[in-house]
Amino acid sequence: MRKLTDNVYYVSVQDWDRRLFDELIPLPEGTSYNAYLIKGSEKTAMIDTADPPKIHELINQLITAGVDKLDYIISHHAEQDHSGGIPDVLLMYPDAKVVTNAKCKAMLMDLLDLDAEQFVEITDGQTLSLGDKTLQFVFTPWVHWPETMSTYLKEDKILFSCDFFGSHRATSSLFVENEAHVLEAAKRYYAEIMMPFRGAIAGNLKKLEPLEIKMIAPSHGPVYPRPALIIDAYKDWISDRVENKVIVGYVSMHDSTRKMVEYFVDSLIEKGVGVQQFNLTGVDIGHLAMELVDAATVILAAPTVLVGPHPTAAYAALLVNALKPKTKFAGIIGSFGWGSKMVETLTSLMGNLKAEMFEPVLIKGQPKPQDFEKLDLLAEKIQAKHKELGILKK
Ligand code: FEO
Repeated sequence: MRKLTDNVYYVSVQDWDRRLFDELIPLPEGTSYNAYLIKGSEKTAMIDTADPPKIHELINQLITAGVDKLDYIISHHAEQDHSGGIPDVLLMYPDAKVVTNAKCKAMLMDLLDLDAEQFVEITDGQTLSLGDKTLQFVFTPWVHWPETMSTYLKEDKILFSCDFFGSHRATSSLFVENEAHVLEAAKRYYAEIMMPFRGAIAGNLKKLEPLEIKMIAPSHGPVYPRPALIIDAYKDWISDRVENKVIVGYVSMHDSTRKMVEYFVDSLIEKGVGVQQFNLTGVDIGHLAMELVDAATVILAAPTVLVGPHPTAAYAALLVNALKPKTKFAGIIGSFGWGSKMVETLTSLMGNLKAEMFEPVLIKGQPKPQDFEKLDLLAEKIQAKHKELGILKK
């Protein structure tokens, strides 16, 4: 347990070894589950808990610090990495009440087998006095679940933001030290779970504007002593601004698609277009998601398997569809042996993408001179579109 400000403590568990979240999201730097203890002159509250496999580490911190009384557990978010430890904390402090909103309460009753009388239900904007410290609840839904809220500690001007503004990083640093490093982790985190909710996040950022925030304390990663760092980054990520960048995600079986991709990528580079090429086999989907945050164009490239797209490309299309990036243009290239519904299937899998689709380049067998010409033409179209957007100058 480490001091954040007077009578406010960071009770964080570092999960250095965790490498996957939700059996989906890679964690190259592990993660942390941050709880916060606030000791008022009359009441003591803890904000969130930790993931169940690590809750003993959080409880050990409370025991070591001699915390013998807990009046409230503020639950910001029902996902298990923050709420899953509530039953264990309640075993230690049976008189504590779980303070949360109606939606989160209903979810916690479903997930943790808690009874209604164990809760204090609060509304948006409501305050809770701990004596000389006052908590104000600010509902910040869809970052990334519908029930998520934040808490503003009025006297200390700290915003406890839960997943909002977080980063998956296990770290010994209480506060952000290397801003560029943390921003990269925070962008990855935003890309993986928040990007589909850009509209809701814009609303939440607006809602926070009247608050004077001196510090942002998220539920993953280090605390921001300079809130503008992460607030400004979020404003950029949710904006419509895109970069002169094409993501080319490909999979190839017998080199036909690979040859197309390599030629196409070279052609784009010659035309001044930025490219990030991903071999989708074994790709770090967090890196892919991060590049999707501001790429102007996405191209998927795949061979045909059993008439449809290679399943690895179909998986990538599903991810792109789920993440709903602000990508302006998209296209499909690939190959087949005797027949293909690959383009139709990939297109239907990306129905959420509000992007202008280029004419696909689908070839039979190995690429021939006329196929390379089509790829040059596609690269020229992308160059022209990026110029129209003003993101490619020459
Ligand atoms: Fe960190 Fe959505 O839980």
